[in-house]
Amino acid sequence: MKVLVTGVKGQLGHDCVNELTKRNHEIIGVDIEEMDITDAASVDKVLRDAAPDAVIHCAAWTAVDAAEDEENREKVRLVNAVGTENIARVCRELNCKMMYISTDYVFDGQGTEPWQPDCKDYKPLNVYGATKLDGELAVSRNLDKYYIVRIAWVFGKNGKNFIKTMLNLGKNHDTIRVVNDQIGTPTYTYDLARLLVDMVETEKYGYYHATNEGGYISWYDFTKEIFRQAAELGHKEYTEDRVHVIPVTTEEYGVSKAVRPVNSRLDKSKLTENGFELLPTWQDALHRYLLELEF
Ligand SMILES: NC(=O)c1ccc[n+]([C@@H]2O[C@H](COP(=O)([O-])OP(=O)(O)OC[C@H]3O[C@@H](n4cnc5c(N)ncnc54)[C@H](OP(=O)(O)O)[C@@H]3O)[C@@H](O)[C@H]2O)c1
Repeated sequence: MKVLVTGVKGQLGHDCVNELTKRNHEIIGVDIEEMDITDAASVDKVLRDAAPDAVIHCAAWTAVDAAEDEENREKVRLVNAVGTENIARVCRELNCKMMYISTDYVFDGQGTEPWQPDCKDYKPLNVYGATKLDGELAVSRNLDKYYIVRIAWVFGKNGKNFIKTMLNLGKNHDTIRVVNDQIGTPTYTYDLARLLVDMVETEKYGYYHATNEGGYISWYDFTKEIFRQAAELGHKEYTEDRVHVIPVTTEEYGVSKAVRPVNSRLDKSKLTENGFELLPTWQDALHRYLLELEF
């Protein structure tokens, strides 16, 4: 199969290319230099020249707080909504499958019930979520052969993420406050890429939710486990007596530019119902990730 991947310089795009390579698919990997997705003419040319069987669309504006700044809002909409529509339109003309990677931020993040993939109660709390939702709607409006896969709390080798931030903070501080009332499950891009390629090799279109297994946790729980595993790997600066992690509520933590959901629980049972193999636990994923990471 010939697959075009967008956002290959980012966390997920990078791992999707590696997974496709392992399976001997023909790959065209692009980032903004080769195909600026906000430029409809460029999208049209690159996609027509490539004539892929499938597009895995990982490119996005992912800086959630910066997306709230007045001067960035139009750019965020152009990338996440218009850019996605540009791709969907050409996929329709080429009769090519499209996979769009989305987020639980399309929901309002209230309550404690896990979000179902086919739930339509959209109510994004911030600019990033609203523009990712517009991207979803552009895909479903233009295409029949699409997968919309919502993920959360992403970490991968190739980019900024929560684990890297915590490891840096832990090195330089003896006390760190971390929120304990936002609940979700981390997603390791290496593991997710395997599932996404499994999926794109089928005709099982529709909405899916995907994260690692291992249960729902808070950012505080995640931080404790990051430091525990790092210390176990011999990085003594992360032992409990060196760095104290203090659980705080979102309110106690203070204002961030973007409002964040407290409930990022994603129900993944649709994956099993459709015969897809679930991801390993996030604890196992974290272990493999820390071994890969130089810190
Ligand atoms: N990160 C998370 O926690 C998270 C959570 C839920 C869902 N997601 C979704 O998962 C997907 C992958 O996320 P990720 O963390 O791998 O993202 P990432 O590391 O930020 O990578 C995104 C890539 O897209 C590129 N890009 C930005 N604007 C572009 C444009 N106009 N044309 C072409 N490429 C452009 C970026 O380039 P620059 O770096 O030069 O801007 C970057 O290389 C995204 O759709 C994201 O919305 C992420």
